Amino acid sequence: MASAASFGVQAFFDAVTSTVSYVLHDVASREAAVVDPVWDFDAKSGRSSTLSAQRIVDYLQAQQLDLRWVLETHAHADHLSAAQWLRAQVPAGAAGTAAPVVIGQQITTVQKVFGGIYGMDDCIAPQGADFDRLLCDGDVLVLGATRIRALGVPGHTPVDLAYAVEAAGAVAAIFVGDTLFMPDVGTARCDFPGGDARALYRSISRLLAHPPQTVLYVCHDYPPAWRTAAWCSTVAEQRAHNIHVHDGVNEAAFVAMREARDATLGMPQLMLPSVQVNIRAGRLPDADAQGRRFLKLPVNAL
Ligand SMILES: [Fe+2]
Repeated sequence: MASAASFGVQAFFDAVTSTVSYVLHDVASREAAVVDPVWDFDAKSGRSSTLSAQRIVDYLQAQQLDLRWVLETHAHADHLSAAQWLRAQVPAGAAGTAAPVVIGQQITTVQKVFGGIYGMDDCIAPQGADFDRLLCDGDVLVLGATRIRALGVPGHTPVDLAYAVEAAGAVAAIFVGDTLFMPDVGTARCDFPGGDARALYRSISRLLAHPPQTVLYVCHDYPPAWRTAAWCSTVAEQRAHNIHVHDGVNEAAFVAMREARDATLGMPQLMLPSVQVNIRAGRLPDADAQGRRFLKLPVNAL
C-alpha cells in the first residue's frame, strides 16, 4: 500500500480488463472511497462474477474502513462497474446510508448519446439521477481531513473526471482516469462518441502542471512483455518519459498521433455490454417477470 502521512491508497488490478481499481482512505478517520470498481463479466458466456469486487469488500472490512464514496472516473467501455453491488455489500457507515455513487456532470451528455444507440432512453433516469451525485470541475468531497477535488479532464470521453487528493492543503496524488497511462504505454484513446484528442491534450497538460512529485494513479495498464502491470507514476516521470506527451510534444503533434493511432484500434471487447450498464451507474437492466435480465446488442450503430 502506498501511503502519505495522512492517507493510504491500495490498488486492485484486474488482469482480464487491465483495469486498476483503488481504495483511498483517510488514516485518522478510517473513511474511504473506492475508485472504478470492476464487475467481472464474460461476454462469451454472459456470466458475471463479483470476484474482483469482493477483494475490495474484503479489504474494506479487514482494514475496518468506512466506505463513504464510490467514484467513477467516467462511463467505462472496457469493464462493467461494480458500483451498485459494492455499495450494497458494505454496511452503512457513520453516514447511515450506503455510499453514494459519483460521476461527472457530463454523464447526461453521454447518456443522451448512448441512450439513443441502445434505444434505452426510457430506462435512463432524468438529469443523471441514476447516480447519487454529479460533480463539476472543482467540486470537493471529504474523507475526514483528506479532500478529494474533481478535475474535469475531458477528451477520452466528455465526462472524464480525475480525482485529486489533497492533504494538508496540497495535492499529493491524482487518480487520473483514462487520460495518461504509464509512461511507456502513453495515453487513452479519443475515438468513442464525444471523444476529442485536442481536449485530451489540454486535460493532460492540466494534470502535468501539478508539482513534479505528485503521484499519478492510472485507470489501466497494458504492460509490454518485459514488465509486469504497474499503475503508479509521478508528474516528473510522465513529463520526462511518456511516449505520447513528454515535454516538447505540442498539441498539433499529439492530436495527429492520437487520431492516427485511434484509427487502427478495434472496439474494446466489453464495450457493448458495459456502456449500457455503466451509464446507469452499474445497474443491470430490470429483470422480466421470470427474473431474467437481458443486455442489448445494437446492430450497425457504432
Ligand atoms: Fe475508458
